[in-house]
Amino acid sequence: MEKLVDGMNNEALIQELTPQLEALNPAEAIELLTRQFPGKVVFSTSLGQEDQVITDFIYRNNLPVRVFTLDTGRLFQQTYDLLDATRAKYNHSIETYFPNTQRVEALVQEKGFNSFYYSVENRKECCFIRKIEPLKRALAGAEIWITGLRAEQSENRADMPILEWDKGNQLIKYNPLIHWTYDEVLVYLEKYRVPDNPLHRQGFISIGCACCTRAIEPGEHPRAGRWWWEESKKECGLHSA
Ligand code: ADX
Ligand code: SF4
Repeated sequence: MEKLVDGMNNEALIQELTPQLEALNPAEAIELLTRQFPGKVVFSTSLGQEDQVITDFIYRNNLPVRVFTLDTGRLFQQTYDLLDATRAKYNHSIETYFPNTQRVEALVQEKGFNSFYYSVENRKECCFIRKIEPLKRALAGAEIWITGLRAEQSENRADMPILEWDKGNQLIKYNPLIHWTYDEVLVYLEKYRVPDNPLHRQGFISIGCACCTRAIEPGEHPRAGRWWWEESKKECGLHSA
């Protein structure tokens, strides 16, 4: 496979690969990508239910994909427990990227521990330091970035394709579950006995940092519990930069 060169070549490559991937189940599709881009396929997991499905595809099929998570330092204890449970189940350690120590120290020194509640700008600054900058390091050298995005999750994700050129990160993003429903995710988790976060049974659907996630009420949008105090788009910048 020709090395990724520029946006134009990559658009052609995406046009070529999309129908091939769509004709396969996600595990087979990931396998195909690992053959075409050896050593260059990575998966970012937040330990959410969609991500647990993809982790299961990868580890149950022994696919050569580098799996990483971004530990913001503010996650729920249940998420850390799930990280360890997942590691134990599959006998694989999930690579963990932490924020740059000096940047976090400077942020907290200047603005305190909870600056994100006081303005959207502050919140984006914290997400940048704790998530986006570590993400850039985690993606270095990758050519295919697998995510657990689903179209149903938000307006911003509704039109996302299965495969897309990510200009900001200069790689191809593969969203294998983009057209899955939430029920399909739950059925898969049950069928393969994949561990998930017990918080999902307590009203938390989309889970991020503990201080920025609350449970939702029946009928609320699944992402209503993320940055619930903001009117802005419910995105941290990982997928909307
Ligand atoms: S977010 O942008 O609002 O935080 P969301 O929680 O919906 O994202 O997760 C969507 C996808 O982004 C996940 O399937 C995963 O690929 C990636 N992601 C989100 N948070 C993390 C994280 N902390 N570590 C690694 N990947 C993450
Ligand atoms: Fe900071 Fe909240 Fe973003 Fe986590 S979700 S990185 S605590 S602003």
